Amino acid sequence: MKLDLLSDRQRTHYCGEIRKENAGQTVFLAGWVDVRRDLGNLIFLDLRDHTGHAQIVCNPAVSVEVHDRAEEIRGEYVVGVEGEVVLRAPGTVNSGLATGDVEVMARKLLVLNEAKTPPFPIEDEIKTSEETRLRYRYLDLRRGRMQRNLRLRHRSGQVVRTHMDAHGFQEIETPFLTRSTPEGARDYLVPSRLHHGHFYALPQSPQLFKQLLMIGGFDRYFQIVRCFRDEDLRADRQPEFTQVDVEMAFPQREELFGIIEKLVEKLFALVDVKVTLPFPRMAYDEAMEKYGSDKPHTGFGLEWKRITLAPGDAEKVRVTEPVKALRVPGWGTASRSQLDKLQESAKSLGSDWFSYIKVSAAEAQSPLGKPLGAPAVAALAASVGAEAGDLVLLLGLRSASSPGAFRMLDNASGDLRLDIARKLELLKPGTWNFLWVVDFPMFDYDEKEKRFAAMHHPFTSPREEDLEKLESDPGAVKARAYDLVLNGSEIGGGSIRIHRQDVQRQVFKMLGLSNEQARERFGFFLEALEYGTPPHGGIALGLDRIVALMAGEASIREVIAFPKTASAIDMMCEAPAGVDPEQLDDLGLSIKRI
Ligand code: AMO
Repeated sequence: MKLDLLSDRQRTHYCGEIRKENAGQTVFLAGWVDVRRDLGNLIFLDLRDHTGHAQIVCNPAVSVEVHDRAEEIRGEYVVGVEGEVVLRAPGTVNSGLATGDVEVMARKLLVLNEAKTPPFPIEDEIKTSEETRLRYRYLDLRRGRMQRNLRLRHRSGQVVRTHMDAHGFQEIETPFLTRSTPEGARDYLVPSRLHHGHFYALPQSPQLFKQLLMIGGFDRYFQIVRCFRDEDLRADRQPEFTQVDVEMAFPQREELFGIIEKLVEKLFALVDVKVTLPFPRMAYDEAMEKYGSDKPHTGFGLEWKRITLAPGDAEKVRVTEPVKALRVPGWGTASRSQLDKLQESAKSLGSDWFSYIKVSAAEAQSPLGKPLGAPAVAALAASVGAEAGDLVLLLGLRSASSPGAFRMLDNASGDLRLDIARKLELLKPGTWNFLWVVDFPMFDYDEKEKRFAAMHHPFTSPREEDLEKLESDPGAVKARAYDLVLNGSEIGGGSIRIHRQDVQRQVFKMLGLSNEQARERFGFFLEALEYGTPPHGGIALGLDRIVALMAGEASIREVIAFPKTASAIDMMCEAPAGVDPEQLDDLGLSIKRI
Protein backbone atom coordinates (compact mmCIF):
# COMPACT_ATOMS: atom_id res chain seq x y z
CA MET A 1 0.00 0.00 0.00
CA LYS A 2 1.25 3.47 -0.81
CA LEU A 3 1.75 5.42 2.37
CA ASP A 4 1.04 9.11 2.87
CA LEU A 5 3.38 11.67 4.39
CA LEU A 6 2.59 13.53 7.57
CA SER A 7 4.47 16.59 6.20
CA ASP A 8 4.05 19.54 8.51
CA ARG A 9 0.63 18.61 9.88
CA GLN A 10 0.11 18.82 13.61
CA ARG A 11 -2.66 17.32 15.63
CA THR A 12 -5.19 19.92 16.75
CA HIS A 13 -6.66 17.62 19.39
CA TYR A 14 -6.13 14.21 20.93
CA CYS A 15 -8.73 11.60 19.98
CA GLY A 16 -10.28 11.50 23.45
CA GLU A 17 -10.66 15.26 23.67
CA ILE A 18 -13.33 16.18 21.13
CA ARG A 19 -16.66 17.22 22.60
CA LYS A 20 -20.00 18.77 21.61
CA GLU A 21 -18.37 22.21 21.98
CA ASN A 22 -16.06 21.39 19.05
CA ALA A 23 -18.97 20.84 16.65
CA GLY A 24 -18.41 22.80 13.44
CA GLN A 25 -14.61 22.94 13.93
CA THR A 26 -12.10 21.39 11.56
CA VAL A 27 -9.73 19.13 13.45
CA PHE A 28 -6.72 16.99 12.63
CA LEU A 29 -6.50 13.78 14.69
CA ALA A 30 -3.97 10.97 14.47
CA GLY A 31 -3.65 7.56 16.03
CA TRP A 32 -4.25 3.84 15.58
CA VAL A 33 -7.32 2.31 13.96
CA ASP A 34 -8.93 0.33 16.74
CA VAL A 35 -11.85 -1.01 14.73
CA ARG A 36 -13.05 -0.48 11.17
CA ARG A 37 -16.73 -1.02 10.42
CA ASP A 38 -17.72 -1.15 6.77
CA LEU A 39 -21.42 -0.51 6.26
CA GLY A 40 -21.07 -0.44 2.49
CA ASN A 41 -21.90 3.17 1.78
CA LEU A 42 -20.30 4.40 5.03
CA ILE A 43 -17.07 3.27 6.69
CA PHE A 44 -16.55 4.02 10.37
CA LEU A 45 -13.07 4.12 11.89
CA ASP A 46 -12.64 3.98 15.62
CA LEU A 47 -9.45 6.02 16.07
CA ARG A 48 -7.45 5.51 19.25
CA ASP A 49 -4.65 7.31 21.04
CA HIS A 50 -3.59 7.40 24.69
CA THR A 51 -6.46 9.74 25.59
CA GLY A 52 -9.33 7.70 24.18
CA HIS A 53 -11.33 7.03 21.03
CA ALA A 54 -12.92 9.16 18.33
CA GLN A 55 -15.38 7.99 15.70
CA ILE A 56 -14.39 8.89 12.14
CA VAL A 57 -16.96 8.73 9.35
CA CYS A 58 -15.76 8.09 5.80
CA ASN A 59 -18.65 9.11 3.61
CA PRO A 60 -18.28 9.01 -0.18
CA ALA A 61 -20.71 11.92 -0.35
CA VAL A 62 -18.06 14.01 1.47
CA SER A 63 -15.00 12.49 -0.23
CA VAL A 64 -14.85 9.49 -2.55
CA GLU A 65 -11.08 9.44 -2.17
CA VAL A 66 -11.34 9.14 1.64
CA HIS A 67 -13.89 6.32 1.35
CA ASP A 68 -11.71 4.42 -1.13
CA ARG A 69 -8.68 4.81 1.10
CA ALA A 70 -10.67 3.65 4.15
CA GLU A 71 -11.51 0.39 2.36
CA GLU A 72 -7.85 -0.58 2.46
CA ILE A 73 -7.32 0.18 6.13
CA ARG A 74 -7.00 -2.56 8.78
CA GLY A 75 -6.75 -2.64 12.56
CA GLU A 76 -3.66 -0.94 14.08
CA TYR A 77 -2.87 1.03 10.93
CA VAL A 78 -1.59 4.48 11.83
CA VAL A 79 -3.69 7.22 10.25
CA GLY A 80 -4.19 10.97 10.31
CA VAL A 81 -7.64 12.41 9.72
CA GLU A 82 -8.73 15.91 8.86
CA GLY A 83 -12.41 16.64 9.07
CA GLU A 84 -15.27 18.46 10.64
CA VAL A 85 -16.61 17.63 14.10
CA VAL A 86 -20.36 17.02 13.84
CA LEU A 87 -22.98 16.05 16.39
CA ARG A 88 -24.04 12.43 16.10
CA ALA A 89 -27.62 11.79 15.01
CA PRO A 90 -29.96 11.14 17.95
CA GLY A 91 -30.03 7.41 18.63
CA THR A 92 -26.40 6.96 17.62
CA VAL A 93 -24.97 8.84 20.63
CA ASN A 94 -22.66 6.60 22.69
CA SER A 95 -23.03 7.69 26.30
CA GLY A 96 -20.37 5.19 27.41
CA LEU A 97 -17.69 7.18 25.59
CA ALA A 98 -16.40 10.66 26.52
CA THR A 99 -16.43 11.56 22.82
CA GLY A 100 -19.71 9.72 22.21
CA ASP A 101 -21.77 12.81 21.34
CA VAL A 102 -19.72 13.64 18.26
CA GLU A 103 -17.96 12.17 15.22
CA VAL A 104 -15.54 13.51 12.66
CA MET A 105 -16.59 13.71 8.98
CA ALA A 106 -13.30 12.88 7.26
CA ARG A 107 -12.24 15.16 4.41
CA LYS A 108 -8.66 13.87 4.26
CA LEU A 109 -7.37 10.49 5.36
CA LEU A 110 -3.62 9.91 5.54
CA VAL A 111 -2.41 6.35 5.92
CA LEU A 112 0.87 6.91 7.75
CA ASN A 113 1.75 3.29 8.37
CA GLU A 114 0.50 -0.24 7.94
CA ALA A 115 0.44 -2.90 10.67
CA LYS A 116 0.52 -6.66 10.75
CA THR A 117 -2.44 -8.28 12.48
CA PRO A 118 -1.56 -8.18 16.20
CA PRO A 119 -1.26 -11.55 17.98
CA PHE A 120 -3.90 -10.46 20.50
CA PRO A 121 -6.64 -7.85 20.63
CA ILE A 122 -5.71 -4.40 21.96
CA GLU A 123 -8.35 -4.46 24.68
CA ASP A 124 -8.40 -4.19 28.47
CA GLU A 125 -9.50 -7.73 29.26
CA ILE A 126 -7.66 -10.36 27.25
CA LYS A 127 -7.00 -14.02 27.91
CA THR A 128 -3.66 -14.11 26.09
CA SER A 129 -0.79 -15.82 27.92
CA GLU A 130 1.57 -13.51 29.75
CA GLU A 131 4.48 -14.83 27.69
CA THR A 132 2.86 -13.70 24.46
CA ARG A 133 2.01 -10.36 26.01
CA LEU A 134 5.62 -9.89 27.10
CA ARG A 135 6.99 -11.06 23.75
CA TYR A 136 4.97 -8.26 22.09
CA ARG A 137 5.07 -5.88 25.03
CA TYR A 138 4.92 -2.80 22.78
CA LEU A 139 1.46 -3.95 21.65
CA ASP A 140 0.44 -4.93 25.15
CA LEU A 141 1.37 -1.42 26.26
CA ARG A 142 -1.18 0.03 23.83
CA ARG A 143 -3.98 -1.50 25.90
CA GLY A 144 -5.85 1.03 28.01
CA ARG A 145 -5.13 -0.90 31.18
CA MET A 146 -1.35 -0.78 30.72
CA GLN A 147 -1.56 2.86 29.70
CA ARG A 148 -3.42 3.67 32.90
CA ASN A 149 -1.02 1.64 35.06
CA LEU A 150 2.13 3.24 33.71
CA ARG A 151 0.63 6.71 33.78
CA LEU A 152 -0.31 6.10 37.42
CA ARG A 153 3.27 5.06 38.04
CA HIS A 154 4.49 8.27 36.43
CA ARG A 155 2.20 10.39 38.61
CA SER A 156 3.32 8.45 41.68
CA GLY A 157 6.92 9.37 40.91
CA GLN A 158 5.91 13.03 40.65
CA VAL A 159 4.12 12.86 44.01
CA VAL A 160 7.20 11.29 45.61
CA ARG A 161 9.51 13.97 44.24
CA THR A 162 7.28 16.88 45.26
CA HIS A 163 6.66 15.48 48.74
CA MET A 164 10.28 14.62 49.50
CA ASP A 165 11.49 17.96 48.14
CA ALA A 166 8.98 19.79 50.35
CA HIS A 167 10.44 17.98 53.36
CA GLY A 168 14.02 18.96 52.53
CA PHE A 169 15.19 15.68 50.95
CA GLN A 170 17.78 15.92 48.17
CA GLU A 171 17.58 13.51 45.23
CA ILE A 172 21.09 12.19 44.71
CA GLU A 173 22.12 9.43 42.32
CA THR A 174 24.32 6.59 43.53
CA PRO A 175 26.38 4.20 41.37
CA PHE A 176 25.11 1.08 39.62
CA LEU A 177 28.58 -0.31 39.05
CA THR A 178 29.67 -0.96 42.59
CA ARG A 179 30.53 -3.60 45.20
CA SER A 180 28.21 -6.13 46.75
CA THR A 181 25.64 -4.73 49.23
CA PRO A 182 24.24 -7.43 51.46
CA GLU A 183 20.43 -7.47 51.28
CA GLY A 184 20.11 -11.23 51.37
CA ALA A 185 19.95 -12.01 47.64
CA ARG A 186 22.60 -12.97 45.10
CA ASP A 187 24.34 -10.21 43.18
CA TYR A 188 24.23 -9.55 39.47
CA LEU A 189 27.88 -9.26 38.50
CA VAL A 190 29.43 -7.19 35.72
CA PRO A 191 32.92 -8.27 34.61
CA SER A 192 35.54 -5.58 34.27
CA ARG A 193 37.35 -5.30 30.92
CA LEU A 194 40.14 -3.20 32.36
CA HIS A 195 40.71 -5.40 35.39
CA HIS A 196 40.39 -9.02 34.36
CA GLY A 197 39.09 -11.29 37.08
CA HIS A 198 37.40 -8.38 38.85
CA PHE A 199 33.69 -7.72 38.89
CA TYR A 200 31.36 -4.90 39.72
CA ALA A 201 28.16 -5.88 41.49
CA LEU A 202 24.90 -4.16 40.60
CA PRO A 203 23.46 -2.75 43.83
CA GLN A 204 20.83 -4.77 45.70
CA SER A 205 20.05 -1.36 47.21
CA PRO A 206 21.98 1.89 47.65
CA GLN A 207 22.22 1.10 51.38
CA LEU A 208 25.86 1.98 52.02
CA PHE A 209 25.88 4.96 49.68
CA LYS A 210 22.91 6.57 51.39
CA GLN A 211 24.63 6.10 54.72
CA LEU A 212 27.78 7.65 53.25
CA LEU A 213 25.67 10.61 52.09
CA MET A 214 24.67 11.16 55.71
CA ILE A 215 28.33 11.05 56.72
CA GLY A 216 28.83 13.47 53.81
CA GLY A 217 26.53 15.98 55.49
CA PHE A 218 23.49 15.87 53.19
CA ASP A 219 21.09 15.52 56.11
CA ARG A 220 18.16 14.22 54.03
CA TYR A 221 18.43 12.11 50.88
CA PHE A 222 16.00 10.30 48.64
CA GLN A 223 16.20 8.58 45.29
CA ILE A 224 13.79 6.76 43.01
CA VAL A 225 16.26 4.06 42.21
CA ARG A 226 16.58 0.74 40.42
CA CYS A 227 17.83 -2.17 42.53
CA PHE A 228 19.03 -5.55 41.30
CA ARG A 229 18.61 -8.86 43.08
CA ASP A 230 19.19 -12.33 41.75
CA GLU A 231 16.60 -14.27 43.74
CA ASP A 232 13.64 -16.57 43.16
CA LEU A 233 10.91 -14.55 41.51
CA ARG A 234 7.27 -14.31 42.49
CA ALA A 235 4.35 -12.08 41.57
CA ASP A 236 5.73 -9.34 43.82
CA ARG A 237 9.41 -9.76 42.95
CA GLN A 238 11.44 -8.77 39.92
CA PRO A 239 15.20 -9.04 39.39
CA GLU A 240 15.29 -5.30 38.81
CA PHE A 241 12.79 -3.22 40.69
CA THR A 242 12.41 0.33 41.96
CA GLN A 243 12.73 1.67 45.46
CA VAL A 244 11.89 5.05 46.87
CA ASP A 245 15.04 5.12 48.94
CA VAL A 246 15.19 7.50 51.89
CA GLU A 247 17.73 8.40 54.56
CA MET A 248 17.91 11.14 57.17
CA ALA A 249 20.39 12.31 59.79
CA PHE A 250 19.51 12.65 63.49
CA PRO A 251 16.21 10.85 62.89
CA GLN A 252 13.48 10.06 65.31
CA ARG A 253 11.55 7.01 64.17
CA GLU A 254 8.22 8.75 64.61
CA GLU A 255 9.36 11.72 62.54
CA LEU A 256 10.31 9.41 59.68
CA PHE A 257 7.05 7.45 60.02
CA GLY A 258 5.11 10.72 59.82
CA ILE A 259 6.86 11.79 56.60
CA ILE A 260 6.30 8.38 54.99
CA GLU A 261 2.67 8.13 56.11
CA LYS A 262 1.91 11.52 54.56
CA LEU A 263 3.60 10.40 51.35
CA VAL A 264 1.52 7.23 51.25
CA GLU A 265 -1.62 9.30 51.90
CA LYS A 266 -0.82 11.47 48.87
CA LEU A 267 -0.02 8.47 46.68
CA PHE A 268 -3.32 6.76 47.46
CA ALA A 269 -5.20 10.00 46.85
CA LEU A 270 -4.17 9.47 43.19
CA VAL A 271 -6.61 6.56 43.09
CA ASP A 272 -9.20 8.29 45.27
CA VAL A 273 -8.41 6.22 48.33
CA LYS A 274 -8.49 8.06 51.64
CA VAL A 275 -6.12 6.39 54.05
CA THR A 276 -6.43 6.80 57.80
CA LEU A 277 -3.37 8.17 59.60
CA PRO A 278 -1.44 7.32 61.64
CA PHE A 279 -0.96 3.70 60.64
CA PRO A 280 -1.17 1.24 63.52
CA ARG A 281 2.08 -0.22 64.89
CA MET A 282 2.60 -3.81 65.97
CA ALA A 283 5.61 -5.49 67.52
CA TYR A 284 7.15 -8.33 65.53
CA ASP A 285 6.51 -10.79 68.40
CA GLU A 286 2.81 -10.00 68.43
CA ALA A 287 2.61 -10.29 64.63
CA MET A 288 4.24 -13.71 64.72
CA GLU A 289 2.06 -15.00 67.55
CA LYS A 290 -1.27 -13.74 66.20
CA TYR A 291 -0.75 -13.85 62.46
CA GLY A 292 2.22 -16.16 61.98
CA SER A 293 3.80 -13.57 59.70
CA ASP A 294 6.02 -10.52 59.92
CA LYS A 295 3.85 -8.96 57.23
CA PRO A 296 0.39 -9.79 58.49
CA HIS A 297 -2.80 -9.08 56.60
CA THR A 298 -4.83 -7.41 59.33
CA GLY A 299 -7.95 -6.94 57.24
CA PHE A 300 -9.79 -9.85 58.83
CA GLY A 301 -9.74 -11.56 62.23
CA LEU A 302 -8.47 -15.13 62.56
CA GLU A 303 -5.83 -14.61 65.24
CA TRP A 304 -3.69 -17.43 66.54
CA LYS A 305 -2.89 -17.76 70.21
CA ARG A 306 0.03 -19.60 71.79
CA ILE A 307 -1.36 -21.83 74.53
CA THR A 308 -0.13 -24.40 77.01
CA LEU A 309 -2.20 -27.45 77.82
CA ALA A 310 -3.20 -28.61 81.30
CA PRO A 311 -0.26 -30.16 83.20
CA GLY A 312 0.61 -33.59 81.82
CA ASP A 313 -1.62 -33.28 78.72
CA ALA A 314 1.20 -32.39 76.33
CA GLU A 315 2.92 -35.73 77.05
CA LYS A 316 -0.36 -37.59 76.57
CA VAL A 317 -0.79 -36.28 73.04
CA ARG A 318 2.95 -36.07 72.35
CA VAL A 319 3.28 -32.40 71.49
CA THR A 320 5.83 -29.74 72.46
CA GLU A 321 4.41 -26.62 74.06
CA PRO A 322 3.39 -23.96 73.31
CA VAL A 323 0.78 -25.13 70.85
CA LYS A 324 -0.88 -22.67 68.49
CA ALA A 325 -4.66 -22.40 68.50
CA LEU A 326 -6.96 -20.58 66.11
CA ARG A 327 -10.67 -19.98 66.46
CA VAL A 328 -12.41 -20.00 63.08
CA PRO A 329 -15.85 -18.50 63.76
CA GLY A 330 -18.74 -20.43 62.23
CA TRP A 331 -16.59 -23.10 60.57
CA GLY A 332 -17.72 -25.94 62.84
CA THR A 333 -19.24 -27.32 59.65
CA ALA A 334 -15.80 -28.00 58.10
CA SER A 335 -15.88 -31.40 56.43
CA ARG A 336 -13.56 -34.31 57.11
CA SER A 337 -11.87 -33.83 53.76
CA GLN A 338 -11.40 -30.08 54.37
CA LEU A 339 -9.75 -30.87 57.70
CA ASP A 340 -7.60 -33.56 56.09
CA LYS A 341 -6.43 -31.04 53.51
CA LEU A 342 -5.58 -28.52 56.23
CA GLN A 343 -3.64 -31.20 58.08
CA GLU A 344 -1.73 -32.05 54.92
CA SER A 345 -0.79 -28.45 54.25
CA ALA A 346 0.15 -27.94 57.91
CA LYS A 347 2.45 -30.91 57.63
CA SER A 348 4.02 -29.75 54.41
CA LEU A 349 4.61 -26.36 56.05
CA GLY A 350 6.55 -27.98 58.88
CA SER A 351 3.97 -28.54 61.63
CA ASP A 352 3.84 -32.28 62.30
CA TRP A 353 1.16 -32.13 65.03
CA PHE A 354 -2.38 -31.14 64.05
CA SER A 355 -5.72 -31.33 65.76
CA TYR A 356 -9.08 -29.61 65.86
CA ILE A 357 -12.16 -29.07 67.97
CA LYS A 358 -15.62 -28.69 66.49
CA VAL A 359 -17.69 -26.80 69.01
CA SER A 360 -21.45 -27.32 69.14
CA ALA A 361 -24.07 -26.42 71.75
CA ALA A 362 -24.10 -29.99 73.02
CA GLU A 363 -20.42 -30.96 72.99
CA ALA A 364 -16.95 -30.26 71.66
CA GLN A 365 -15.98 -32.92 69.16
CA SER A 366 -12.24 -33.52 68.75
CA PRO A 367 -9.66 -36.28 68.20
CA LEU A 368 -8.24 -35.00 71.51
CA GLY A 369 -11.43 -36.09 73.34
CA LYS A 370 -10.20 -39.60 73.87
CA PRO A 371 -6.70 -38.97 75.25
CA LEU A 372 -7.54 -35.77 77.20
CA GLY A 373 -11.21 -36.13 78.14
CA ALA A 374 -14.17 -33.85 77.37
CA PRO A 375 -13.56 -31.22 80.11
CA ALA A 376 -9.95 -30.61 78.94
CA VAL A 377 -11.13 -30.23 75.33
CA ALA A 378 -13.89 -27.84 76.41
CA ALA A 379 -11.32 -25.84 78.40
CA LEU A 380 -9.06 -25.64 75.35
CA ALA A 381 -11.91 -24.38 73.18
CA ALA A 382 -12.86 -21.84 75.86
CA SER A 383 -9.25 -20.60 76.06
CA VAL A 384 -9.59 -19.16 72.54
CA GLY A 385 -13.14 -17.93 73.13
CA ALA A 386 -14.78 -20.51 70.85
CA GLU A 387 -18.57 -20.62 70.77
CA ALA A 388 -21.10 -23.08 69.42
CA GLY A 389 -20.65 -23.44 65.65
CA ASP A 390 -16.93 -22.55 65.70
CA LEU A 391 -13.93 -24.60 64.73
CA VAL A 392 -10.69 -24.50 66.70
CA LEU A 393 -7.52 -25.52 64.90
CA LEU A 394 -4.47 -26.64 66.83
CA LEU A 395 -0.97 -26.75 65.41
CA GLY A 396 2.17 -27.95 67.05
CA LEU A 397 5.48 -29.74 66.86
CA ARG A 398 6.12 -33.24 68.11
CA SER A 399 9.61 -32.28 69.11
CA ALA A 400 11.26 -28.90 68.96
CA SER A 401 14.89 -28.42 69.72
CA SER A 402 15.40 -24.77 68.82
CA PRO A 403 13.74 -21.39 68.48
CA GLY A 404 14.08 -21.88 64.72
CA ALA A 405 11.59 -24.76 64.89
CA PHE A 406 9.04 -22.50 66.60
CA ARG A 407 9.62 -19.88 63.90
CA MET A 408 8.70 -22.58 61.37
CA LEU A 409 5.54 -23.35 63.36
CA ASP A 410 4.63 -19.65 63.36
CA ASN A 411 5.19 -19.44 59.61
CA ALA A 412 3.04 -22.53 59.07
CA SER A 413 0.27 -20.98 61.16
CA GLY A 414 0.49 -17.82 59.05
CA ASP A 415 0.27 -19.64 55.73
CA LEU A 416 -2.65 -21.74 56.98
CA ARG A 417 -4.45 -18.60 58.18
CA LEU A 418 -4.23 -17.07 54.69
CA ASP A 419 -5.36 -20.35 53.17
CA ILE A 420 -8.45 -20.38 55.37
CA ALA A 421 -9.14 -16.70 54.69
CA ARG A 422 -9.09 -17.41 50.96
CA LYS A 423 -11.38 -20.42 51.38
CA LEU A 424 -13.83 -18.46 53.49
CA GLU A 425 -13.51 -15.43 51.17
CA LEU A 426 -12.48 -13.09 53.97
CA LEU A 427 -10.06 -11.07 51.81
CA LYS A 428 -12.13 -8.13 50.64
CA PRO A 429 -10.91 -6.02 47.72
CA GLY A 430 -11.00 -2.25 48.20
CA THR A 431 -9.92 -2.26 51.85
CA TRP A 432 -6.55 -0.87 52.82
CA ASN A 433 -4.91 -2.26 55.93
CA PHE A 434 -1.66 -0.46 56.62
CA LEU A 435 0.57 -1.51 59.46
CA TRP A 436 4.03 -0.70 60.79
CA VAL A 437 5.74 -3.82 62.12
CA VAL A 438 8.39 -2.77 64.64
CA ASP A 439 10.85 -4.24 67.12
CA PHE A 440 12.21 -6.99 64.91
CA PRO A 441 14.79 -9.31 66.42
CA MET A 442 18.29 -8.25 65.49
CA PHE A 443 19.37 -11.73 64.41
CA ASP A 444 17.84 -14.76 62.84
CA TYR A 445 19.40 -18.10 63.78
CA ASP A 446 20.28 -20.04 60.67
CA GLU A 447 19.62 -23.69 61.56
CA LYS A 448 21.50 -25.07 58.59
CA GLU A 449 24.59 -22.92 58.94
CA LYS A 450 24.41 -22.94 62.76
CA ARG A 451 25.04 -19.22 63.02
CA PHE A 452 23.28 -15.89 63.35
CA ALA A 453 22.27 -13.90 60.29
CA ALA A 454 21.05 -10.30 60.20
CA MET A 455 17.28 -10.19 60.09
CA HIS A 456 17.29 -6.90 58.15
CA HIS A 457 20.80 -6.04 57.06
CA PRO A 458 24.00 -5.81 59.08
CA PHE A 459 23.88 -1.99 59.31
CA THR A 460 20.71 -2.00 61.42
CA SER A 461 21.15 -0.68 64.94
CA PRO A 462 20.28 -2.76 67.97
CA ARG A 463 17.97 -1.03 70.45
CA GLU A 464 20.10 1.13 72.73
CA GLU A 465 18.93 -0.76 75.82
CA ASP A 466 19.95 -4.09 74.23
CA LEU A 467 23.54 -3.14 73.35
CA GLU A 468 24.89 -5.03 76.34
CA LYS A 469 23.14 -8.24 75.31
CA LEU A 470 24.84 -8.28 71.90
CA GLU A 471 27.40 -10.88 72.98
CA SER A 472 25.73 -12.45 75.99
CA ASP A 473 22.26 -13.09 74.52
CA PRO A 474 22.17 -12.17 70.81
CA GLY A 475 18.86 -14.00 70.25
CA ALA A 476 17.14 -11.58 72.64
CA VAL A 477 18.45 -8.37 71.03
CA LYS A 478 15.82 -6.31 69.28
CA ALA A 479 16.68 -4.14 66.28
CA ARG A 480 15.55 -0.59 65.56
CA ALA A 481 14.04 -1.93 62.35
CA TYR A 482 10.58 -1.54 60.89
CA ASP A 483 8.55 -2.68 57.91
CA LEU A 484 5.55 -1.05 56.31
CA VAL A 485 2.88 -3.58 55.41
CA LEU A 486 -0.24 -3.17 53.30
CA ASN A 487 -2.81 -5.95 53.05
CA GLY A 488 -0.18 -8.57 53.87
CA SER A 489 2.38 -7.24 51.44
CA GLU A 490 5.67 -5.71 52.57
CA ILE A 491 5.75 -2.35 50.84
CA GLY A 492 8.73 -0.90 52.69
CA GLY A 493 11.45 -1.61 55.18
CA GLY A 494 14.12 0.29 57.00
CA SER A 495 15.87 0.99 60.24
CA ILE A 496 17.82 3.35 62.40
CA ARG A 497 21.43 2.49 61.58
CA ILE A 498 24.53 1.76 63.52
CA HIS A 499 26.57 4.97 63.53
CA ARG A 500 29.38 3.83 65.82
CA GLN A 501 32.31 1.87 64.50
CA ASP A 502 32.65 -0.22 67.68
CA VAL A 503 29.02 -1.38 67.48
CA GLN A 504 29.32 -2.09 63.75
CA ARG A 505 32.39 -4.25 64.36
CA GLN A 506 30.62 -6.08 67.16
CA VAL A 507 27.63 -6.81 64.92
CA PHE A 508 29.89 -8.06 62.13
CA LYS A 509 31.52 -10.31 64.70
CA MET A 510 28.16 -11.72 65.78
CA LEU A 511 27.44 -12.43 62.12
CA GLY A 512 30.61 -14.49 61.93
CA LEU A 513 32.68 -11.94 60.00
CA SER A 514 36.26 -11.71 61.24
CA ASN A 515 37.95 -8.29 61.35
CA GLU A 516 39.80 -9.21 58.17
CA GLN A 517 36.66 -10.29 56.35
CA ALA A 518 34.81 -7.16 57.49
CA ARG A 519 37.73 -5.01 56.32
CA GLU A 520 37.92 -6.85 53.01
CA ARG A 521 34.19 -6.41 52.27
CA PHE A 522 33.31 -3.13 53.98
CA GLY A 523 36.67 -1.52 54.78
CA PHE A 524 35.75 1.75 53.07
CA PHE A 525 32.57 1.95 55.08
CA LEU A 526 34.15 1.09 58.43
CA GLU A 527 36.73 3.75 57.73
CA ALA A 528 34.03 6.31 56.94
CA LEU A 529 32.32 5.52 60.25
CA GLU A 530 35.46 6.80 61.98
CA TYR A 531 35.06 10.34 60.65
CA GLY A 532 32.17 11.70 62.69
CA THR A 533 29.14 9.73 61.57
CA PRO A 534 25.87 11.29 62.70
CA PRO A 535 23.07 9.08 64.00
CA HIS A 536 20.99 8.31 60.93
CA GLY A 537 18.25 6.06 59.63
CA GLY A 538 15.86 5.58 56.77
CA ILE A 539 13.61 3.35 54.78
CA ALA A 540 13.07 2.07 51.26
CA LEU A 541 9.60 1.72 49.79
CA GLY A 542 8.93 -0.80 47.04
CA LEU A 543 7.47 1.47 44.35
CA ASP A 544 6.42 -1.37 42.04
CA ARG A 545 4.48 -3.05 44.85
CA ILE A 546 2.80 0.17 45.93
CA VAL A 547 1.70 1.11 42.41
CA ALA A 548 0.48 -2.45 41.75
CA LEU A 549 -1.67 -2.33 44.88
CA MET A 550 -2.98 1.12 43.96
CA ALA A 551 -3.83 -0.11 40.45
CA GLY A 552 -5.53 -3.23 41.83
CA GLU A 553 -3.09 -5.48 40.00
CA ALA A 554 -2.04 -8.86 41.42
CA SER A 555 1.45 -8.77 39.91
CA ILE A 556 4.07 -6.02 39.83
CA ARG A 557 4.75 -7.01 36.21
CA GLU A 558 1.56 -5.12 35.33
CA VAL A 559 3.08 -1.81 36.44
CA ILE A 560 6.55 -2.27 34.91
CA ALA A 561 6.93 -1.35 31.25
CA PHE A 562 9.35 -4.13 30.33
CA PRO A 563 9.42 -6.76 33.09
CA LYS A 564 11.07 -10.17 33.16
CA THR A 565 9.22 -13.46 33.35
CA ALA A 566 9.23 -15.59 36.50
CA SER A 567 12.41 -17.22 35.19
CA ALA A 568 14.12 -13.82 34.80
CA ILE A 569 13.86 -13.75 31.01
CA ASP A 570 13.08 -10.74 28.87
CA MET A 571 10.80 -12.40 26.31
CA MET A 572 11.01 -9.52 23.88
CA CYS A 573 14.72 -8.92 23.51
CA GLU A 574 15.58 -12.45 24.60
CA ALA A 575 17.87 -11.51 27.45
CA PRO A 576 19.95 -13.01 28.91
CA ALA A 577 21.74 -13.98 25.70
CA GLY A 578 25.06 -15.44 24.66
CA VAL A 579 27.87 -13.10 23.62
CA ASP A 580 30.55 -13.16 20.94
CA PRO A 581 33.72 -15.05 21.82
CA GLU A 582 35.67 -11.81 21.20
CA GLN A 583 33.65 -10.05 23.87
CA LEU A 584 34.52 -12.82 26.32
CA ASP A 585 38.19 -12.54 25.35
CA ASP A 586 38.09 -8.80 25.98
CA LEU A 587 36.75 -9.49 29.44
CA GLY A 588 39.23 -12.28 30.06
CA LEU A 589 36.41 -14.77 30.56
CA SER A 590 35.74 -18.28 29.35
CA ILE A 591 32.53 -20.26 29.88
CA LYS A 592 32.71 -23.40 31.95
CA ARG A 593 30.06 -25.90 30.85
CA ILE A 594 28.56 -27.81 33.77
P1 AMO B 1 14.40 -4.21 51.66
O1 AMO B 1 15.28 -5.29 51.20
O2 AMO B 1 13.38 -4.49 52.71
O3 AMO B 1 15.24 -3.02 52.30
O4 AMO B 1 13.69 -3.56 50.40
C1 AMO B 1 12.79 -2.47 50.54
C2 AMO B 1 11.51 -2.74 49.78
O5 AMO B 1 11.77 -3.02 48.42
C3 AMO B 1 10.79 -3.91 47.90
N1 AMO B 1 11.46 -5.08 47.29
C4 AMO B 1 11.17 -5.58 46.08
N2 AMO B 1 10.25 -5.22 45.16
C5 AMO B 1 10.20 -5.92 44.00
N3 AMO B 1 11.03 -6.93 43.70
C6 AMO B 1 11.99 -7.33 44.58
N4 AMO B 1 12.82 -8.32 44.25
C7 AMO B 1 12.08 -6.64 45.83
N5 AMO B 1 12.87 -6.76 46.92
C8 AMO B 1 12.49 -5.80 47.79
C9 AMO B 1 9.90 -4.32 49.06
C10 AMO B 1 10.76 -3.98 50.26
O6 AMO B 1 9.97 -3.67 51.39
N6 AMO B 1 18.28 -1.05 52.03
C11 AMO B 1 17.07 -1.52 52.68
C12 AMO B 1 16.18 -0.39 53.09
C13 AMO B 1 16.64 0.36 54.32
O7 AMO B 1 17.07 -0.29 55.28
O8 AMO B 1 16.51 1.60 54.28
C14 AMO B 1 16.33 -2.43 51.72
O9 AMO B 1 16.62 -2.54 50.55
O10 AMO B 1 8.72 -3.54 49.05
